[in-house]
Amino acid sequence: MRTHATLPAVGGTFRFGATEKLRTLDLSEPLEVRRVATGEHAHTVRTLGDSVVLKMARRLRSGIDPGIEMGHFLSRSGFTNSPALLGTLEHINEGGVPTALAVALEYIRNQGDGWSVVVDALDRELEDETLSGDADDRGLPYSLTLIETIGRRTGELHRALAAADAIDPNFAPEPVTNDDLDEWLKSAVLRAEEAFDSLDKLPDTTDVETQQLADKLLTLREAMVRRIETLVPTIARGNKLRLHNDYHLAKILVSANDIYIIDFEGEPDRPVEERRQKAPASRDIATMLRSFDYAARTAVDRQRQRGATQLEEIETRGLNWRSLAERRFLRAYGMARDDSTGGSHLAGGELLPLFLADKLFEEILYEGANRPVYLATPLRSALELVAPLDTTTDEDGA
Ligand SMILES: Nc1ncnc2c1ncn2[C@@H]1O[C@H](COP(=O)(O)OP(=O)(O)O)[C@@H](O)[C@H]1O
Ligand SMILES: [Mg+2]
Repeated sequence: MRTHATLPAVGGTFRFGATEKLRTLDLSEPLEVRRVATGEHAHTVRTLGDSVVLKMARRLRSGIDPGIEMGHFLSRSGFTNSPALLGTLEHINEGGVPTALAVALEYIRNQGDGWSVVVDALDRELEDETLSGDADDRGLPYSLTLIETIGRRTGELHRALAAADAIDPNFAPEPVTNDDLDEWLKSAVLRAEEAFDSLDKLPDTTDVETQQLADKLLTLREAMVRRIETLVPTIARGNKLRLHNDYHLAKILVSANDIYIIDFEGEPDRPVEERRQKAPASRDIATMLRSFDYAARTAVDRQRQRGATQLEEIETRGLNWRSLAERRFLRAYGMARDDSTGGSHLAGGELLPLFLADKLFEEILYEGANRPVYLATPLRSALELVAPLDTTTDEDGA
């Protein structure tokens, strides 16, 4: 990589690339190679000593790799809470189109990814609270401190992306258009319809509780679609940016009192061009907030599996944590993005509800097809979304 070698290959060439950072790294001693367990991951990952991570693609996609592109951008922009890009290996075909084969990244010493660290911490905190009752003068729990840090670093990431120069058309922010709004609404409605179709034919093996939630949601199908249609703003405002695009707690590495954002190439099952599209920052925020919901419900489930008795109370605490986490995250995010020029930190924030709903139905489709035990999680949240329509109000006659 360091020599920027090019080697002949079938149908083109292999091209090696190295960043300045790789050239300054001391690699004189042999490095110990270790595996990183990557069950659900798209890459085979190895660490080399405690300085380099090598990600080798298991699935190949032709086109500009969003992860490599983002690595170069972030080092130019000075955002340091993601591992620095060290080197690349791509196949370049005869037409000049690249296919990423491997990337080398700076190794981040860490205590685990954000998902496991947050769920473990919350699990313990819920148990502590249950044992000690409500008297809570212990200050901010660790899980929420971490969420604040994630909010701040996310705000900084988006600030860097929002400041991309017009000379870099692949990154320069662009105004949201009315066509964009139409497109986002159309795809959210389509996804919801597909999700409802899938709920209509869940397999017989579906557990009773999940089936009941699905049946309940199905009775609200029309109301739900109408609700989604009300979520799109009438006037296009703000900018769309390049984003992380597959942003959730597992894309965070926790390191001492800080966090690092990893894995910028997006979902490998989606075409590269789709993963390079710009969208309002609230698209990344929506997927992260959904992850808080999963974390809360997973921690509560762990208590249930361990035979905890005060389940209702624990569940209330879990959902309370979720709203606290959302608020802490958004506040820290807003403060980090709010720049001295007067700040438009939640520019695009009016699209958050639409992107949240879109993500929810994507989860329903995904969990239904791949992880039925998790299906109840997005179903419950989808029911919360239509809850106001579901109640026959008699209090104020409205
Ligand atoms: N820069 C890094 N430093 C330390 N560990 C890393 C780094 N990048 C990835 N890892 C480890 O490898 C795992 C998989 O990496 P990820 O980028 O998410 O791969 P994939 O694209 O295949 O999902 C991470 O969860 C983390 O444990
Ligand atoms: Mg990835």
